[in-house]
Amino acid sequence: MTTPDTDSLPRHVAIIMDGNGRWAKRRGLPRVMGHRRGVESVKKVVETARKMGIEALTLYAFSTENWRRPATEVAALMELLATFLRREAPNMMANNIRLTAIGQIDRLPDSAGRALREVMAQTAANTGLVLNLALSYGSRDEIIRASRRFAADCVAGRRQPEELDEELFAAYLDTAGLPDPDLVIRTSGEFRLSNFLLWQLSYAELYITDTPWPDFREAEFRAAIADFQGRQRRFGRTGEQV
Ligand code: FPP
Repeated sequence: MTTPDTDSLPRHVAIIMDGNGRWAKRRGLPRVMGHRRGVESVKKVVETARKMGIEALTLYAFSTENWRRPATEVAALMELLATFLRREAPNMMANNIRLTAIGQIDRLPDSAGRALREVMAQTAANTGLVLNLALSYGSRDEIIRASRRFAADCVAGRRQPEELDEELFAAYLDTAGLPDPDLVIRTSGEFRLSNFLLWQLSYAELYITDTPWPDFREAEFRAAIADFQGRQRRFGRTGEQV
């Protein structure tokens, strides 16, 4: 008999923040109101993760597929992102939070892109929670970009194809330097990964809740962590071996 691990915190939590639009629609509000309330959830969850001592939090804020949304919604999301970054920078400094990003950052509009680069530079030396935003992010796109970089290094003679193993490949991904997520949370009830961290989530525990992102706050985050702590992670071994 093995007992579940009751006290180990996940080092890295990744979240698919879904359900902002449905939250707003149910209230007869424009979708952007759901995103606006979603930003409040981002603040609460970041604060809670930091207080709990979690090392890294990756938030799926905008996917490569999200560019297909109506231009007004894309513009509103980018505006919310820029405002969030500028407003929260002092708070990140005060709380030792380091901001990082994954995805095609150069596709972001000027104001959001500039805010992101500035706050990443400002917080680069912080040593507490890593807040990693997935922006214009798609996992297949990330894997292709990593493969191209590795191939280019081979052509330039810096690498040999035979050298490539899982560890080296991971170093070419946007998430280089971060541990793989131990737990992935998806809000609003869909059972999909939606092109999110397909390589990095290989051994992650999945937690899916019906709660839409705008209602996902401290208590919901703590419940997800408690659920994770009750799981037994076997990494391919038997229950008796772990
Ligand atoms: C999913 O809801 C949410 C998004 C596509 C964007 C998430 C963005 C934020 C919470 C705000 C900006 C981000 C930061 C980090 C400040 P949905 O619109 O897909 O909801 P639906 O599936 O109900 O339509």
